Amino acid sequence: MSDIITDRLNIRRFVEADAAELFDYISNPRVNCFVDDKVTTLEQAKVKARKRAKDEACLAVCLKETGTLIGELLLHKDGRYQPDTYSVGWNFNEKVEGKGYARESAHALFDHLFTQLGARRLYAYVEDDNLKSQKLCEKLGMRKEACFIEFISFVNNPDGTPKYENTFQYAILKKEWRLTDT
Ligand SMILES: CC(C)(COP(=O)(O)OP(=O)(O)OC[C@H]1O[C@@H](n2cnc3c(N)ncnc32)[C@H](O)[C@@H]1OP(=O)(O)O)[C@@H](O)C(=O)NCCC(=O)NCCS
Repeated sequence: MSDIITDRLNIRRFVEADAAELFDYISNPRVNCFVDDKVTTLEQAKVKARKRAKDEACLAVCLKETGTLIGELLLHKDGRYQPDTYSVGWNFNEKVEGKGYARESAHALFDHLFTQLGARRLYAYVEDDNLKSQKLCEKLGMRKEACFIEFISFVNNPDGTPKYENTFQYAILKKEWRLTDT
């Protein structure tokens, strides 16, 4: 895939040299769904960067002006019966929050998926306490389709039992995309 360029961002495949900037945000996961991706050393971040570099489903989002890696977008193609469906996700460095970078990059990714990669439906899972991600889904024109109660467990409760989270599913179809494009 060639890079996706927006006004302020360059969206590209990861490279090993991203390790330090990757470390900066995956060493401190802000939501439970990224706890498994946590690293504590730069060496571990290098391993993660190398893995991401081979992974078409994970894209680096960088500032065009400086080249700094500020976060990532995830795009997983679904299986045999939904070959035109992708699940999407995002994880950004808290230091660049509130500047519209997540929206700008996700908007460009949606456009790319719908117009270049033949996507028909995109969906995202968002936990019910993740208001920022819900807001982002809504700004991208996604519909809240469902709430799955005690759907998933990423972490344990203090007593060692699984902490189950309620999860919203948001989605958008290609035929809805241009209608909601802002
Ligand atoms: C979810 C997440 C990507 C949202 O990041 P964000 O920076 O709030 O999202 P956006 O890019 O949409 O930016 C929106 C904010 O930028 C502001 N903004 C500033 N300049 C802007 C510009 N030029 N264009 C657009 N918005 C701009 C908006 O007003 C908005 O502020 P508000 O939240 O106070 O209303 C981020 O919180 C994150 O990475 N969280 C951790 C990982 C996570 O939760 N992932 C999802 C798991 S389901």
